Amino acid sequence: VLLTLFATVHKSKKGDAKAELEAYIEEKKAEINPRYRLHYHVAPPVGWMNDPNGFSYYKGEYHLFYQFYPYESKWGPMHWGHVVSPNLVDWRPLPTALLPEEEMCFSGSAVVKDDSLVLMYTDHEITDVEPFFNETQYLAFSDDGVVFEKYEGNPVLPSAPNGNPDFRDPKVWKHGDHWYVVLGSKTDDDRGRVLLYRSLDLISWEFLSVIGESTGEMGYMWECPDFFKLKGKHILLMSPQGMTPQGDRYKNTHQTGYIIGSFNYETIEFVPEVSFQEIDFGHDFYATQTTEEDGNRYLIAWFGMWDVPYPEDVDGWAGAMTIFRELDLVGNRILMKPVEAMTSLREETVWDGKLAENDVIQLDKTGELLVTGDLSQNIELEIKGSNGGGQVSLRWDPQVRKVVVDREGDVRQVEWLPLGSEVWRIFLDASSLELFCGEGEVVFSTRVYPDGNWQVTNLSPQTLDVVAYKLRRSVP
Ligand code: FRU
Repeated sequence: VLLTLFATVHKSKKGDAKAELEAYIEEKKAEINPRYRLHYHVAPPVGWMNDPNGFSYYKGEYHLFYQFYPYESKWGPMHWGHVVSPNLVDWRPLPTALLPEEEMCFSGSAVVKDDSLVLMYTDHEITDVEPFFNETQYLAFSDDGVVFEKYEGNPVLPSAPNGNPDFRDPKVWKHGDHWYVVLGSKTDDDRGRVLLYRSLDLISWEFLSVIGESTGEMGYMWECPDFFKLKGKHILLMSPQGMTPQGDRYKNTHQTGYIIGSFNYETIEFVPEVSFQEIDFGHDFYATQTTEEDGNRYLIAWFGMWDVPYPEDVDGWAGAMTIFRELDLVGNRILMKPVEAMTSLREETVWDGKLAENDVIQLDKTGELLVTGDLSQNIELEIKGSNGGGQVSLRWDPQVRKVVVDREGDVRQVEWLPLGSEVWRIFLDASSLELFCGEGEVVFSTRVYPDGNWQVTNLSPQTLDVVAYKLRRSVP
């Protein structure tokens, strides 16, 4: 009787904490300054957001969770925020799914098992001995996709094979009768690596192999690993910390990219065939997660980066997700395209025709532009706020065949060899820019902060063909 009483009191206390949090969020939302609020990107209702978590499809809807700290616009004890969508474009919020208790709820993934949505995530605990933290893996269950209960037998994976405390970001999937999980970790001498485990019930796990390991140049820690089949190959996608910049490459605080290879479930060995490449070349892109639905592989990333300024933080929020992308593999690289449903955001055609040198397109807070130029000549588009600020220059240099995204002098650039289409598809939201070149051979995701509306000027020494749309709001 005492035990049941304790369990009931404990449960209702948790219920109270959840209700209080939702009331707090509602109250704080009213204080947000809307100037940089995104119209069609998932962002936290208030407070801070980083990695996407638990990206999955359950009972007819896509679920996306995220690293969330509601109480300040900076990183703090991690919760899991939660949104759902029928189509990867229109999102509505649900109550915060996981609240920290003694531990923080770090990144992880979601799978559907016996009609339940199961979250597997990292419990990050602060300790009082060096290195002052420990990471283990937890489960939480839901029968309705709204209310989640942490599993009483947690942790299900108490430590890495070498005991290293950096042991996080489980990404689970099913193959045959088994569940598999990859986890980010490191060697004893600080080289990033990815561990593979197998289970029959998600509860007891058997360590299988190390499927990827840094030789040193690939960084000291690999975060947010993902492992999946794409067009007959296996892709190890992850976010290495500590890679040294090399020319145009690896210019962000940390990177996100992939290794293409072959994997055999019998030998549990991943054989790399194409070495690490970045998957997005913009300034603000990290900690990807993918899910498969209807035979398509969809990707989402944190539209942010560690240790960079967030000008929106003074407005009561910070951080966002990129738009959702569909992956394809052609030759030795991944192509990344906006999901098809993005066209459903087009509300009004703002421009359709020639854009001569120095012509200007006035947009609202949002826009999608399809830009075609002659690639044997220079292209230069200046994008900025109608009252200044938020300046980005998008350029094509035919001499070196590079696409350049220059955000106030902070340059990201990469070679582009169009496979087919030569169109640039540019998405502008109230404080962001995403550029997809051609079939998605080269993509840049960059946060930018204009004053007022957007204004696009053709500074190229050539006339461009441009179609521009205003996009509707699809998030709260
Ligand atoms: C990646 C990351 C993860 C961790 C989470 C904590 O951005 O550092 O490795 O689980 O963020 O918020």
